[in-house]
Amino acid sequence: MSSISQSSNYPNLSPKLAELLASHLPESSPERDPSTNSNYYNFNLKKSTLDIEVLFDKKILIGSITLELDVLNSIDNIILDSSYLNIKNTIVNGESVDFKVEPRKEPLGSPLIINYSTDKLSTITLKIEYETTDKCTALQWLSPEQTDDGKLPYLFSQCEPIHARSFFPCFDTPSIKSEYYYIVKSNLKTLMSGLLISETKNDNKSDSIIYKYHQPVPIPSYLCCIASGSLIGKPIGPRSTVFSEPSFVDSCQYEFEKDTENFIQVAESLVFPYEWKKYDVLILPTAMPFGGMEHPNCTFATPTLISGDRENVDVIAHELAHSWSGNLVTNGSFEHFWLNEGWTVYLERRIVEKLHGEKARHFSAIIGWTDLENSIDAMGESSKRYSTLIQNLKDKSDPDDAFSTVPYEKGFNLLFSLELLLGGKQNFDPFIKHYFTKYKYQSLDTYQFLDTLYGFYDDKKDLLDTFDWQTWLYSPGLPPKPKFDTELVDECYSLAKKWVSITSSNPESLEKEFNPSDIESFGSNQSGVFLDTLVSYEGKSNFTWNSKNGSLAIKIMTEKYSKYSTSQNAEVVFRWFRLLLTGRIQSSYPKLADWLGTVGRMKFVRPGYVMLNQVDRELALKTFKKFENGYHPICKAMVKKDLGLV
Ligand code: BES
Ligand code: ZN
Repeated sequence: MSSISQSSNYPNLSPKLAELLASHLPESSPERDPSTNSNYYNFNLKKSTLDIEVLFDKKILIGSITLELDVLNSIDNIILDSSYLNIKNTIVNGESVDFKVEPRKEPLGSPLIINYSTDKLSTITLKIEYETTDKCTALQWLSPEQTDDGKLPYLFSQCEPIHARSFFPCFDTPSIKSEYYYIVKSNLKTLMSGLLISETKNDNKSDSIIYKYHQPVPIPSYLCCIASGSLIGKPIGPRSTVFSEPSFVDSCQYEFEKDTENFIQVAESLVFPYEWKKYDVLILPTAMPFGGMEHPNCTFATPTLISGDRENVDVIAHELAHSWSGNLVTNGSFEHFWLNEGWTVYLERRIVEKLHGEKARHFSAIIGWTDLENSIDAMGESSKRYSTLIQNLKDKSDPDDAFSTVPYEKGFNLLFSLELLLGGKQNFDPFIKHYFTKYKYQSLDTYQFLDTLYGFYDDKKDLLDTFDWQTWLYSPGLPPKPKFDTELVDECYSLAKKWVSITSSNPESLEKEFNPSDIESFGSNQSGVFLDTLVSYEGKSNFTWNSKNGSLAIKIMTEKYSKYSTSQNAEVVFRWFRLLLTGRIQSSYPKLADWLGTVGRMKFVRPGYVMLNQVDRELALKTFKKFENGYHPICKAMVKKDLGLV
C-alpha cells in the first residue's frame, strides 16, 4: 500500500487528517465489503429480475433471479451469496453451466460458485433457478393464527443487513445496486419494494394473481422485500397509502394521515425532491422484529406504532428520511452503517425540528444520548468493540451482532457536532444538499464522506481539524458530548428527582406530595424520559427501588399515575415494566411474561427477556419456549444468544 497513491484518492483531506487515516485508507472506494462471499467487485450490475411464486402450503418461494452484468475484469468464476437456498440450475447467456454450493460458514452463508470464466470485458445474462427452504432467515411464514385477523397465512421478508442471500442468490452487499423487476405469483395481495405495474389473473391457476413491480432507481439487495397476505390499503396522503390486515387499517390510517405528507415535504426542503414517486407504509403483524424498515416505496413498520395517539410517528419520519440517506446514498458495507443510520437520525430530528421546534429536536437528541449511554454501558467486554463509529467486521463477525444504538446516536452526534462547529444550520444545510446530490445512486464509505466534507468546507479545514477525529471514528465508548438545550427534559428530571428524594428521606409524605396532574401534560416521550430517569437512580448513592421505601413508592406511583399501567403505547409499557422489575415487584413478572407474547419488536423483546432472566430465569425460559415460534427468525436467534441458550 502506498500512501501517496492512496492520498491522491482523497485530495481534499487536510494533512493532519490524512496522517491520522493513513493506515486505514482503502486502495479503492468504497472500501471492500467483508460481509459478502461474492466477487461483486468484478461486475457492474445493470438489472435484476426476480420471478417467483409464493407457495403458502409448502412455505417456500420457487422461481428464478436473472442478473444482467457487465464483466469488468477477467474472472475465473462468478461467486454469489446464498444462505439455505436450494439452487437448481445456473444459466449463462441461455446455456446451463456447472455450479457448486460451498459448505456453509457462519455467518456469511454458502458461496454459490458458478463455473464461468472470461478474460474480456463483456455483458452477460445470468439466470439462477432456485427454491427457498424452511431455514431461510429472511423470510417469516405466519400461520393464520399468528396474524391479527387470524384467517389467512402471511409472508414477509427482512433482508437488512445480510439476509437477502436467503431470499434469492445475489451479490449481497450494499456496494452494488441495480434496477429491479419483480414478477410474483401469489394467492394473496403482494407488496414489494417498487412501483406496481400490473396485477393480473394467473391463467394457469385459478386463485393466483400475477403481480409485476418495477424499481427504476438502482437499489442494493438488502432493500428488496416481499409481503403477501390479507392486505388492504387506505390513503394517508396524496402520494401515500397505508396497508395492513383489514380489521386494523382504519386505526393505521388515523395514526399516519396527519403527518406523512408533511414529513415528506419537510424532508424535500432539507435535501431535494422525493425521487421514488410513492411513499407507502405497510403495518405488519406482531412478529415484525424492527420498529421500521425503509424498503423503497414500502416502509415496513411494527404494529406497536399504532397507539391511537399519533405519538410514534417519528419512526415514520425516520424510515422516510432513509429515502435519501441509505436508499439513495448507501453505506458501502455495514462497517460504515452510521452513514445510513446516523444521517437518517439527523434528518429525522431536522424534520421534528421543522414541525415542532428546536427544543423538540434537542429533546429527542437527549433521549438518544441516554440510549447511547445505556447501550454502551450494557455492552459486555466482547461487544465493546462494536461501540466505535466505524466498525471492524473484517474477521467475519456477524453484522446482526454488531447492531446497536451506537451507529445511530454516535452518527447523529457526529453530524450534530459538525453542524455546531461549522456555525449552525444555515452553514451546514448547503453541505446536506451537496453530499446527497454527489452520492445519489451510489454507495460510499466514511473516508469518502470525510473527503467530501473537507472539500466542501475548503476554507474551514483548520476548524475541521480541531475536531477530535480519532475519538469520533475509532474509539470505543462515548464521544464528546455536545451541548443540548435541556428545557423539555428538565421537567421530567426534576419530577424523578423529587420521587427519589422523598422516597429516601420522607416516604410517609409520598401520598400527599404526588398527584395524577404531575404527568398530565407529558407526552409518551416525556413519560419515557421520566421513567428512564427513575430507573437510572438505581444503585446510585445507595438508592434502590428494591427496598421497603422503594416498593411503597412504586405502589403509590401505580395508583397516582395509573395511565402508565394502562398505557397502550409500547414505549411507555416497556419502561414501566423496567421500573417494576428494577424494584423486584414480583406480581409484575407474569405480566411482563404475557406482554412478551404480544410484541415482536426486538427493541422490546430482547431487553424484556434479559430483564426477566435477571429476576426469574425459570420464568424467562418458560416464556421464551412458549412464544419462540411466534418470533421472527432473527429475533428468535438473538434472544437465544441473549439468554445464553446457544
Ligand atoms: N434500517 C433500520 C432497521 C434495521 C437496521 C434492520 C439494521 C436490520 C438491520 C430502520 O431504519 C431502523 O432504524 N428502525 C428503527 C426505528 C428508528 C426510529 C430508530 C427500529 O427498528 O427501531
Ligand atoms: Zn434506520
